[in-house]
Amino acid sequence: MKILVINGPNINLLGLREPQVYGKENYEELRKLVDSHALEIGVEVKQYQSNHEGDIVDVIQGAYLDAVDGIIINPAAYTHTSIAILDALKAVKIPCVEVHISDVEKREAYRQISYVREVAIATVSGKGIKGYAIAMDILKEHLSK
Ligand code: DQA
Repeated sequence: MKILVINGPNINLLGLREPQVYGKENYEELRKLVDSHALEIGVEVKQYQSNHEGDIVDVIQGAYLDAVDGIIINPAAYTHTSIAILDALKAVKIPCVEVHISDVEKREAYRQISYVREVAIATVSGKGIKGYAIAMDILKEHLSK
């Protein structure tokens, strides 16, 4: 089972970035958590982070060619703006889980729209970086059916 984890803009600044909102762990610690959870549950994982919308679209398209089974995506600020990322996910039809480190539902009005939610099989938000492990479990269970 091949899973691709995609993180959007500013997730590379975890730890430095508003730690009261996003936690103290840095991006490297997030990567390690994802890699070790993948080992634990027996899935193959690749991780990707970009600050650029078009690059994220390219990576989603590439996932189709790579026969990726499932995608975990935190589109970060593009969650609230990007129809291009939604369209790419719709095009490739790869099951995906949406993740947010913070509890977006309880934040500003402009964070209440999520375009990717339309295609996501589930959304995990407000669980900190552990949310990625939760999303991996959800995706594995979905793909095992
Ligand atoms: C985020 C929430 C978004 O609103 C924000 O723009 C981010 C991170 C989260 O993980 O909580 O960059 O997706």
